[in-house]
Amino acid sequence: MPLQAQSAPVSQEASRYVKAAEADSVTPGNSVAVKLEGNFIGIHNVDGEFYAIDNICPHVGGVLHSGKQEGGVIVCPIHQWKFDVKTGECIWPGECELATFPLKVSGGDILVDLESPSVPPKQNRFHACVTDTVERSESIRWRARS
Ligand code: FES
Repeated sequence: MPLQAQSAPVSQEASRYVKAAEADSVTPGNSVAVKLEGNFIGIHNVDGEFYAIDNICPHVGGVLHSGKQEGGVIVCPIHQWKFDVKTGECIWPGECELATFPLKVSGGDILVDLESPSVPPKQNRFHACVTDTVERSESIRWRARS
């Protein structure tokens, strides 16, 4: 699925859920990338449950949704750092974490709350470069390898 850039707010409460993708477009064991108001987020389907996590590896900018999914762990395709998609914790080598975002499914759509990340999403030097590159590659289907 190509990178999806959507920003229509669905709710204006303390939480602000924004449509990220159609639920049936992210099948179990797969992942997609979305850009929501400047946030580059990976949406992962782990055994039918969806999770939203920062999509840029803090090491040197690997695009995580294109990595291998091992249960609830996403493996960076560049140097194989591992992240828990539910908590954002770096499983290996440790000592870092990624922002995760609350998520819900409504009317067949995956909605991500941009107001309540687990930690402030990091905007390191890799984010702009990687996000731009992926946006230019919309013809490429980004799927986690299984
Ligand atoms: S860029 Fe992700 S592990 Fe190196």
